[in-house]
Amino acid sequence: MLSEERNQTLTRVGPGTAMGDYLRRYWMPIAGAAEFDDIEVKPIRLMGEDLALYKDRSGTFGLVDRHCPHRRADLSYGFVEEKGLRCNYHGWLMDESGQCIEQPFEDMVNPKNPLRGKCKITAYPVRELSGLLWAYMGPLPAPELPVYEAFTWGNGFSEVITSDIPCNWLQCQENSIDPVHFEWMHDNWSLRQKGQLAPYSTKHLKVAFDEFEEGFVYKRVREGQSEQAEMWSIGRVFLWPLGFYLGEHFEWRIPVDDENTLSVTWFWCRVPTEREPYVQTRIPHWHAPITEPDGRWITSHVINQDIVAWVGQGRVGDRTKETLGASDKGIAMIRNRFFEELEAVKQGKDPKGVLRDPAAAKLVELPIAERKPFLAGKSMLEYTKHPYYSKRMKGFPWNAGQPEQVRKEFCIAMGIDADGNFLALKEAAGAK
Ligand code: FES
Ligand SMILES: [Fe+2]
Repeated sequence: MLSEERNQTLTRVGPGTAMGDYLRRYWMPIAGAAEFDDIEVKPIRLMGEDLALYKDRSGTFGLVDRHCPHRRADLSYGFVEEKGLRCNYHGWLMDESGQCIEQPFEDMVNPKNPLRGKCKITAYPVRELSGLLWAYMGPLPAPELPVYEAFTWGNGFSEVITSDIPCNWLQCQENSIDPVHFEWMHDNWSLRQKGQLAPYSTKHLKVAFDEFEEGFVYKRVREGQSEQAEMWSIGRVFLWPLGFYLGEHFEWRIPVDDENTLSVTWFWCRVPTEREPYVQTRIPHWHAPITEPDGRWITSHVINQDIVAWVGQGRVGDRTKETLGASDKGIAMIRNRFFEELEAVKQGKDPKGVLRDPAAAKLVELPIAERKPFLAGKSMLEYTKHPYYSKRMKGFPWNAGQPEQVRKEFCIAMGIDADGNFLALKEAAGAK
């Protein structure tokens, strides 16, 4: 439970708020790079700021104030040039640093035009990494953009998925340190949705939470699992401050404003060893729906189920009314750490996990249970026998609404037919 004041401190993200200023000190994934294969510019709202995100004709990405410095037209309706984004109203041109580099009529009537050099709008650095566009909205110099180990594994099919979530970021992110919900929200609720009453899935027997440099880990032992299993000895990562890392995928909860969040996820699936080496030439992006035609939330897929929990807590969760128990120890830990961090930053310290060393940022390894199989790969036969990957071949289990085109690309990469059967295994069986 938190006081109203402390709840507001943690949840408010606009410019000048304690948490808003704190979170701006981290690189955040904000879009799929592939979105800009079809568009030049789009409106985007981040941390309570209205911005325009664009890719100019030379391939440079820019993230600038939504409004033109001239008479405030909407730059998300502008068009790009070899360098920069041009306002569609009178043609002023801004580069990725926000500097106005052309004012066509002013430049003509006054070739020395002193106005242009003084004209600069808010702009934030953007980088492309592993199919994601990352923005940094904090004080300069920007820290290093961490290259997580999973981005370097290769031999896999990646995809980037975004969703618009109508609630505050923190209740989404608290879900990243909540092992017990898995048993109920995903396992047992899914059983019930299929019309099954029993048996319920295996119970959590114990959970534990530890802090490390890049975040926290949660650990679990469920019925039938030993303490030697890596879900207890290593665990899963709450990636500080906005991410969740599960080995073959990341989830980030990016604050749009106090009442909205952009869910950004990156998925990776290694191709079977028989199909290696495999190089993916383009990481697709898709935007996942969260509502049914009747306006109810979609409940069929794992992340959709999580979203039902997040939005169900209200636009901004009222933490004055909650009742925390033993399963919520991790949640209390991260809230306390956020408060401590706000104090530390006030005293001029770098925030937790921020990387300043370029060499260290080149490869950031995170602890993760069951890491070895990601490195070793699996054969087609092993995939067909694997409880998770056999299902993964049949369809995308995480978000509803995967476009047919992405499914097709996935099938080609894996060497499977539309039903998820490996073509090479089918052929071999047919030849017998
Ligand atoms: S308002 Fe943008 S150029 Fe005039
Ligand atoms: Fe979940």
